[in-house]
Amino acid sequence: SAVAMPEPDPAEHSASFGYGKIILLGEHSVVYGRHAIATPIGLTIQAEVTHQEHGTELVIARWDTDAAYDPIGAGLAEQVTALIAERLGLAGKGMRVDVFPHLPRASGLGASAALAVAIIRAIADRFGLAISDSEVSSLAFECERIVHGTPSGIDNTVATFGRSILFRNPNMASDAAAPEIADIVTPGPIQIVIGLTGVRSLTSHTVGIVRAAWEKNPARYEAIFSQIDELVLAGVGALRRGDLAELGDLMNMNHGLLGALQVSSPELETLVGVARRAGALGAKLTGGGGGGAMIAVTEPGAAESVGSAMRQAGFVTYLTEIR
Ligand code: MEV
Repeated sequence: SAVAMPEPDPAEHSASFGYGKIILLGEHSVVYGRHAIATPIGLTIQAEVTHQEHGTELVIARWDTDAAYDPIGAGLAEQVTALIAERLGLAGKGMRVDVFPHLPRASGLGASAALAVAIIRAIADRFGLAISDSEVSSLAFECERIVHGTPSGIDNTVATFGRSILFRNPNMASDAAAPEIADIVTPGPIQIVIGLTGVRSLTSHTVGIVRAAWEKNPARYEAIFSQIDELVLAGVGALRRGDLAELGDLMNMNHGLLGALQVSSPELETLVGVARRAGALGAKLTGGGGGGAMIAVTEPGAAESVGSAMRQAGFVTYLTEIR
């Protein structure tokens, strides 16, 4: 059956965890300075730091299922941890960092950013360092650069703040990049079904595919990014009004344009088709694509039946709410 996820609790912001996220509209084009909308999900990565005499030891626990381990892959988590210790002025200090991932890896749900945020908060907490949320997010952005190459900064922002946001990073290339972030508040909770293809896909890989295609034909790709940007901006209004039918249309069109960018996959198309036939108002891939996850928005109360159709087709689902 569907896994109901705990809702993010804003009061727990100082705890050592980072939120997973879904992108509602605007992945990939956000890497090229366009807007995107993201919302946190109840799946998190937690970290705990304990005393150790010498050296830094990183231990990533297998957390109840096999799908949730080693969230970002060989060696990268160690590099991220070393960078964090250095930036916090703790290079060479002995510590043991335990990481508990509740997010499936390589699924486009923001595991790498959530991991960085969790480790930053756990280390800062352990060594009594005061670190603001925006400092956490900036440092996690540096970590994302190790993992991704050219992250937009949306994942580390949502992993840190745990709120629904409209995001744009107009100056990606600059180190002093100050992203524009606006909160999005909906009139009531909006249910979203998340479907996992079960196919691992690294966001760095699909971002690279889009980059190579853009380099060959920048004008054609810029035009698609701008079309996606229009859908995203219309989506802000739809969310603020609670207009689910409009949101669904925008998600369907965004999925079509992501197909044009060639970041969909056969499993994603199957899941999107199953969700739409089961009555979803809209369905699209979310995050990097190429596998990973998709999302569907439904009429109020219909998320369970849409999720059930997706599970009958053999996929794992989660329920979450935009709020
Ligand atoms: C990943 O969640 C979303 C992408 O747009 C990459 C990024 O924004 O860094 C694919």
